[in-house]
Amino acid sequence: KPITRVMPDVCVLLAHTGQMRLDDPEFIAHPYPTFATMRAQAPLQWDDDLQMFIALSHASAGAVLRHRSLGRIWEDFLPAAAYPALNLIHRHALLEMEPPEHTRLRRLVASAFARGHVERLRPRVVAFAAELANAVADAGSDGSPVDLLPIYAEPLPIAVIGSLLGVPVSDWHLLRPWSNAIVKMYEYGRSPATEQAAESAASEFAAYLRELATARRRNRGDDLISDLLRVQDEDGSKITDDELVATGILLLNAGHEATVNVTGNGLSALLQRPEQLAAVQNGISDPAVIALASEELVRFDGPLQLFERTATVDTTIHGVEIGAGQKVAALLGAANHDPDVFDKPEVMNVLRDPNPHLGFGVGIHFCLGAPLARVEIQTSLSTLIDRFPHIALVDVPQHNPEFVIRGLEQLPVTI
Ligand code: HEM
Repeated sequence: KPITRVMPDVCVLLAHTGQMRLDDPEFIAHPYPTFATMRAQAPLQWDDDLQMFIALSHASAGAVLRHRSLGRIWEDFLPAAAYPALNLIHRHALLEMEPPEHTRLRRLVASAFARGHVERLRPRVVAFAAELANAVADAGSDGSPVDLLPIYAEPLPIAVIGSLLGVPVSDWHLLRPWSNAIVKMYEYGRSPATEQAAESAASEFAAYLRELATARRRNRGDDLISDLLRVQDEDGSKITDDELVATGILLLNAGHEATVNVTGNGLSALLQRPEQLAAVQNGISDPAVIALASEELVRFDGPLQLFERTATVDTTIHGVEIGAGQKVAALLGAANHDPDVFDKPEVMNVLRDPNPHLGFGVGIHFCLGAPLARVEIQTSLSTLIDRFPHIALVDVPQHNPEFVIRGLEQLPVTI
């Protein structure tokens, strides 16, 4: 029930009892009205359930991500002795580092990326998407429903990251199960079985990447790991084996799940809105329209809802005092529906321009893979819509129960 008309001090009280019910399927299915109510009460507020501050407006979430007194402070997930691989791959990951380590590693990875990987991958992304569209056509040729997640949305980012890292095609089937198991660690309320599965996946994946890196040290290829080694040789900076492994795992985890879910959530929203679908169809041969539509898919029902930071010193943001050691989360989905920044934020508008969403973050941790992610989203959207002009949802797709990584259970369509 909307509570915006309740007296302000009562609103603050209600906010403190926590309205984001992460275990409530109704909230998971439609989080945006709750975000709107909470944002109107206070853009930065304490959440009792999560035991951290949460930033719900564009300004407060942006301030949290930019603030240099709020850092990614790596604390071991779980006892280091029982979960060595998980702790290792996070302790050495770019996303968990702060300057000066972050600056050094980010510069290395960014210059390896800058060696034309995105441009070289573009024609391969187009070819992968066309191949996957053929598989969709085969599966749906008799009029039966096709679940687009396993057959279209999931394989594309795996092929792209597999190619980027130089993983042989014959091993691509290993990547998705590893990534799936590891990213379950970022949800709240996870079980010990989930933690053990994540540890096994991290340990197997780390061993795999160590072998790959050893092979590339002997024999350089055309992949990102080889380029990281080249950059290191050329400018004399140092990347440790642990950092190389952690970077490979981060690229798969960061680059895979989010891209799958932008495609899934975005297509679901688009296919529920015939006038928006028509706007994409009308602009299908105009790269500018496809680029705008892709940004709106990231904004409208984004795949990554929450990023945490920890205060390194006592800090005041938006008039709220945050003590050293306390956690603060930027709620990207809430920020991306802020009416102070987006006209009619609850309305999907594939031609929205400008669209300053925070879907790729902001500040020193801004998504390093955004240019590649954009190529993937634009290609998968335009290929599918162009190839299947009569594509339609079978039913309204359901979101899976996870909050942080927001995705669908299934995406059944007829073509
Ligand atoms: C960081 C979103 C795809 C690599 C981030 C962050 C966000 C994000 C919000 C910032 C996290 C923070 O501030 O704590 C997304 C979305 C994607 C996507 C929505 C897809 C639609 C990719 C891809 C790659 C990638 C394809 C690589 C191939 C990274 C890396 C970082 C990062 C390495 C860490 C950067 C740093 O800490 O300096 N991403 N990402 N992402 N992303 Fe992405």
